[in-house]
Amino acid sequence: MRTSSIQKMLILLVYYGFLFLNYVNRNAVTIECLASDQEALLDFKNGLQYSHNCLSSWRNTNCCQWQGIRCDNVTGAVVAVDLHNPSHVEFWNISGELRPSLMKLKSLSHLDLSFNTFSGIPIPKFLGSLMHLQYLNLSKAGFAGLIPPHLGNLSHLQSLGLVDYSLHVESLEWVAGLVSLKHFRMDGVDLSSVATTDWVSALNQLPSLMKLHLSSCQLF
Ligand SMILES: *[C@@H]1O[C@H](CO)[C@@H](O)[C@H](O)[C@H]1NC(C)=O
Ligand SMILES: *[C@@H]1O[C@H](CO)[C@@H](O)[C@H](O)[C@H]1NC(C)=O
Ligand SMILES: *[C@@H]1O[C@H](CO)[C@@H](O)[C@H](O)[C@H]1NC(C)=O
Ligand SMILES: *[C@@H]1O[C@H](CO)[C@@H](O)[C@H](O)[C@H]1NC(C)=O
Repeated sequence: MRTSSIQKMLILLVYYGFLFLNYVNRNAVTIECLASDQEALLDFKNGLQYSHNCLSSWRNTNCCQWQGIRCDNVTGAVVAVDLHNPSHVEFWNISGELRPSLMKLKSLSHLDLSFNTFSGIPIPKFLGSLMHLQYLNLSKAGFAGLIPPHLGNLSHLQSLGLVDYSLHVESLEWVAGLVSLKHFRMDGVDLSSVATTDWVSALNQLPSLMKLHLSSCQLF
C-alpha cells in the first residue's frame, strides 16, 4: 500500500516536472533574426569604422543576439539599433559612413548613435525616410552641418536627440511634421538664423511635446 502511493507520487512528480520543463523551454525559444535584416545590418557595419570591440558580436550568427540589436519577438524583424556609447570617459569611436542599408530594416523604431565620433559628417537625409522611428538619438555623435529638414517626415517620432555644437538649422518649419514628438533636445544647435517668432511658432505646433531642451542655441 505505502510503496504504491509513493510510486504514484513519484510518477506525478515526474509528470509535472516534465510539463514544467516543457513550459520553460517554450518560453526560452530564441527568436531568429530575419535574414534580410541581418544582411542589411552587415552591410551597415561595413560602412563603419571603430577602434573598440563594440561590434565584435556582429558576425554571421543570429543578429537578434548582437550587441545593441533588438528584434520583434514574433517576426524576428530588427526593431532597435542601439550603438550609443555607454561610457562618457572612454570613447567607442564609431565613425565612418552611415550606409542607407538601414532603410531595409522595415520595422526599425529605435536608433541611437549618441556619443560617437562620426568626424564631422552631415546627418544623412535618408534618416527621414525611416518611417517607423519612434526614438532617434544623434546627440554628440560627431555629426556636423545642416540638420536635414527630411527629419520632419518622422511623424511617429516620440523622442529626438540632436545635442551638438556643430549642427545648425536654416529654418524650423520641418519640426511641424513631428506630430508625435514628446521629448526634444537640441542644446548647442545653432538656431541663430531662425527668427524668434518662427521657432516659437514651429514648436508651438507640436501637440504632444512635453520636454524641450534648447540651451546654448544662440537664440538671443
Ligand atoms: C513579445 O512581444 C509582445 C508584444 O510586444 C509582448 O507583449 C511580450 O511581452 C513579448 N514577449 C517576450 C517574451 O518578450
Ligand atoms: C577616440 O576618439 C577620441 C576623440 O576623438 C580621441 O581622443 C581618441 O584618441 C580616440 N581613441 C582611439 C583609440 O582611436
Ligand atoms: C521628406 O522631407 C523632405 C524635405 O522636407 C521632402 O523633400 C521629401 O519629399 C519628404 N518625403 C520623403 C518620403 O522623404
Ligand atoms: C540621447 O542619448 C543621451 C546619451 O546617450 C541621453 O543622455 C539622452 O537622454 C538621450 N535622449 C535624448 C532625447 O537626447
